[in-house]
Amino acid sequence: MNALKIKENFLTEGSLILINRRYPLKRNMSQEIFLPPILDFPEIRMEPRAASCLNQLLAAWNGSEEIIPVSGFRTAEEQTALRNLALKEHGREYTDRYVALPGCSEHEAGLAIDLAEKSSRIDPICPRFRETDSFSLFCRMAGRYGFIRRYTEEKKHITGIDAEPRHFRYVGYPHSDLMNSLNLCLEEYIVYLRRFTQKKPLILLRGGRKICIFCAEAGQNICLKSGEVAEISGTNAGECVITVWS
Ligand code: DAL
Ligand code: ZN
Repeated sequence: MNALKIKENFLTEGSLILINRRYPLKRNMSQEIFLPPILDFPEIRMEPRAASCLNQLLAAWNGSEEIIPVSGFRTAEEQTALRNLALKEHGREYTDRYVALPGCSEHEAGLAIDLAEKSSRIDPICPRFRETDSFSLFCRMAGRYGFIRRYTEEKKHITGIDAEPRHFRYVGYPHSDLMNSLNLCLEEYIVYLRRFTQKKPLILLRGGRKICIFCAEAGQNICLKSGEVAEISGTNAGECVITVWS
């Protein structure tokens, strides 16, 4: 039996962190450790696991030549510049609907990517990503590789952002799959997970493996049996989500 203590700094990092107006990013991400997810676009960077999963998704989808990655990791300065551009070109109301405040964007954590249809003119604020058969297939496959569509029309009253079909957020598998099947956005999913504890976890069976998911607080000890592997992510909203694979 191994014990693992949840440290305070775990609460604000990881693939499940909530980043919005209410829960701004608590740390400054270092771009050096980020990787280009698509080989032809070295200027687009993502957090390493997100980059690797996006690469695998694109290879499995087999349609990479149809899309252009428009924006991955952004510094706070780049987010400010994008907001200023949107304010200048479209005004306050439109900007608040589509561009997060600096410090409150998932792009600043390297966990989001905007993808657009290949075109000679791409709008940097709202790039076009229509529901063609090919793109619909990409969206259906995305959940298997840890990605969700973060901003939908249905959930905009919760996320605070209007529908953005182009914006894909890495949360990791099986969370992506579960959020899709339960039809929960990230804000709702974190509230949903709070009912699960180490003693009474959410149990899933995927690909012949057992997965236990539960929430834990800073200072809590997590016990792992031999052969179990735990992934820990903060929620940025007060706790950690523990995913144990056995
Ligand atoms: N467009 C999304 C909401 C962002 O600015 O992060
Ligand atoms: Zn985006």
